[in-house]
Amino acid sequence: MSDVEKGTGIKFGVYISKDLIEELDKIMLNSGIKNRSKLIQEALRLYIIENKWISLKEVAGSISILYNHSAGDIDEKLTDIQHTFRDIIVSSMHIHLDERTCMLVIAVKGESQRIKEFLINIRKLRGVLLVRHSLLTAQSKAMGIEQGKSVI
Ligand code: NI
Repeated sequence: MSDVEKGTGIKFGVYISKDLIEELDKIMLNSGIKNRSKLIQEALRLYIIENKWISLKEVAGSISILYNHSAGDIDEKLTDIQHTFRDIIVSSMHIHLDERTCMLVIAVKGESQRIKEFLINIRKLRGVLLVRHSLLTAQSKAMGIEQGKSVI
Protein backbone atom coordinates (compact mmCIF):
# COMPACT_ATOMS: atom_id res chain seq x y z
CA MET A 1 0.00 0.00 0.00
CA SER A 2 1.34 3.44 -0.93
CA ASP A 3 1.57 6.44 1.41
CA VAL A 4 -1.39 8.02 -0.45
CA GLU A 5 -3.53 4.88 0.10
CA LYS A 6 -2.52 4.76 3.76
CA GLY A 7 -3.43 8.43 4.09
CA THR A 8 0.02 9.34 5.43
CA GLY A 9 0.82 11.74 2.60
CA ILE A 10 -0.85 14.32 0.40
CA LYS A 11 -1.05 14.58 -3.36
CA PHE A 12 -0.61 17.95 -5.07
CA GLY A 13 0.15 19.27 -8.55
CA VAL A 14 3.57 20.73 -9.25
CA TYR A 15 4.85 22.19 -12.50
CA ILE A 16 8.27 20.88 -13.49
CA SER A 17 10.03 21.95 -16.68
CA LYS A 18 10.66 19.36 -19.40
CA ASP A 19 14.46 19.51 -19.13
CA LEU A 20 14.31 18.98 -15.37
CA ILE A 21 12.02 15.96 -15.78
CA GLU A 22 14.40 14.50 -18.38
CA GLU A 23 17.32 14.90 -15.96
CA LEU A 24 15.29 13.34 -13.13
CA ASP A 25 14.29 10.39 -15.33
CA LYS A 26 17.96 9.77 -16.19
CA ILE A 27 18.82 9.75 -12.46
CA MET A 28 15.84 7.43 -11.79
CA LEU A 29 17.12 4.90 -14.35
CA ASN A 30 20.53 4.75 -12.66
CA SER A 31 19.39 4.94 -9.04
CA GLY A 32 17.02 1.98 -8.80
CA ILE A 33 14.22 4.27 -7.58
CA LYS A 34 11.10 3.01 -9.34
CA ASN A 35 8.85 6.10 -9.63
CA ARG A 36 8.99 9.88 -9.81
CA SER A 37 7.13 10.42 -6.53
CA LYS A 38 9.75 8.42 -4.62
CA LEU A 39 12.58 10.21 -6.42
CA ILE A 40 11.13 13.65 -5.70
CA GLN A 41 10.58 12.71 -2.02
CA GLU A 42 14.23 11.60 -1.83
CA ALA A 43 15.36 14.87 -3.47
CA LEU A 44 13.23 16.90 -1.02
CA ARG A 45 14.70 15.04 1.95
CA LEU A 46 18.22 15.90 0.76
CA TYR A 47 17.17 19.53 0.22
CA ILE A 48 15.78 19.71 3.76
CA ILE A 49 18.95 18.19 5.26
CA GLU A 50 21.07 20.58 3.19
CA ASN A 51 19.19 23.62 4.50
CA LYS A 52 18.69 22.55 8.13
CA TRP A 53 21.96 24.15 9.24
CA ILE A 54 20.40 27.63 8.94
CA SER A 55 18.19 26.92 11.97
CA LEU A 56 21.12 25.61 14.04
CA LYS A 57 23.12 27.93 16.28
CA GLU A 58 26.66 26.83 15.54
CA VAL A 59 27.79 24.85 12.50
CA ALA A 60 30.97 23.50 10.95
CA GLY A 61 31.79 22.20 7.50
CA SER A 62 33.06 23.15 4.09
CA ILE A 63 32.16 25.61 1.36
CA SER A 64 33.31 24.93 -2.20
CA ILE A 65 33.47 27.81 -4.65
CA LEU A 66 33.99 27.38 -8.36
CA TYR A 67 35.02 30.60 -10.10
CA ASN A 68 36.55 32.11 -13.20
CA HIS A 69 39.78 33.76 -12.04
CA SER A 70 39.99 35.97 -15.14
CA ALA A 71 36.75 37.77 -14.19
CA GLY A 72 37.85 41.21 -13.00
CA ASP A 73 39.60 41.29 -9.64
CA ILE A 74 37.79 38.27 -8.24
CA ASP A 75 40.87 36.75 -6.56
CA GLU A 76 41.45 39.99 -4.65
CA LYS A 77 37.76 40.27 -3.70
CA LEU A 78 37.66 36.65 -2.49
CA THR A 79 40.73 37.32 -0.34
CA ASP A 80 39.17 40.53 1.07
CA ILE A 81 35.95 38.69 2.01
CA GLN A 82 37.92 35.91 3.69
CA HIS A 83 39.79 38.48 5.77
CA THR A 84 36.48 40.08 6.81
CA PHE A 85 35.09 36.69 7.84
CA ARG A 86 38.31 35.34 9.43
CA ASP A 87 36.33 34.70 12.66
CA ILE A 88 34.53 31.76 10.98
CA ILE A 89 37.20 30.57 8.53
CA VAL A 90 39.38 27.71 9.74
CA SER A 91 41.41 27.13 6.58
CA SER A 92 41.20 27.25 2.80
CA MET A 93 42.55 25.36 -0.17
CA HIS A 94 42.93 26.62 -3.73
CA ILE A 95 42.80 24.17 -6.66
CA HIS A 96 43.64 25.34 -10.22
CA LEU A 97 41.19 23.30 -12.32
CA ASP A 98 42.11 24.53 -15.78
CA GLU A 99 43.48 27.67 -17.49
CA ARG A 100 40.66 29.85 -16.14
CA THR A 101 38.68 27.93 -13.55
CA CYS A 102 39.62 27.74 -9.89
CA MET A 103 38.09 25.92 -6.96
CA LEU A 104 38.33 27.29 -3.46
CA VAL A 105 37.45 24.93 -0.60
CA ILE A 106 36.97 26.75 2.68
CA ALA A 107 36.58 25.04 6.06
CA VAL A 108 34.32 27.04 8.37
CA LYS A 109 33.11 26.87 11.97
CA GLY A 110 30.94 29.34 13.81
CA GLU A 111 27.54 31.02 14.12
CA SER A 112 25.22 29.92 11.31
CA GLN A 113 24.03 33.51 10.77
CA ARG A 114 27.61 34.63 10.18
CA ILE A 115 28.21 31.77 7.71
CA LYS A 116 24.97 32.69 5.92
CA GLU A 117 26.28 36.28 5.55
CA PHE A 118 29.57 34.94 4.19
CA LEU A 119 27.72 32.82 1.56
CA ILE A 120 25.61 35.83 0.48
CA ASN A 121 28.77 37.92 -0.03
CA ILE A 122 30.47 35.17 -2.06
CA ARG A 123 27.42 34.58 -4.29
CA LYS A 124 27.28 38.30 -5.17
CA LEU A 125 30.71 38.26 -6.82
CA ARG A 126 30.95 38.42 -10.59
CA GLY A 127 32.88 35.39 -11.85
CA VAL A 128 31.58 32.96 -9.22
CA LEU A 129 30.18 29.98 -11.14
CA LEU A 130 28.95 27.69 -8.36
CA VAL A 131 28.85 27.66 -4.56
CA ARG A 132 28.16 24.44 -2.67
CA HIS A 133 28.22 23.93 1.07
CA SER A 134 28.19 20.98 3.40
CA LEU A 135 27.43 22.15 6.93
CA LEU A 136 26.60 20.18 10.06
CA THR A 137 25.98 21.19 13.64
CA ALA A 138 29.14 22.01 15.56
CA GLN A 139 27.48 20.79 18.75
CA SER A 140 27.27 16.99 18.89
CA LYS A 141 24.62 17.18 21.64
CA ALA A 142 22.25 18.96 19.22
CA MET A 143 22.35 15.89 16.99
CA GLY A 144 21.81 13.51 19.89
CA ILE A 145 25.34 12.18 19.53
CA GLU A 146 27.16 11.26 22.70
CA GLN A 147 30.81 12.23 22.75
CA GLY A 148 33.08 9.45 21.53
CA LYS A 149 30.22 7.27 20.27
CA SER A 150 30.07 6.23 16.65
CA VAL A 151 26.92 7.11 14.72
CA ILE A 152 27.56 4.85 11.72
NI1 NI B 1 43.61 28.97 -9.49
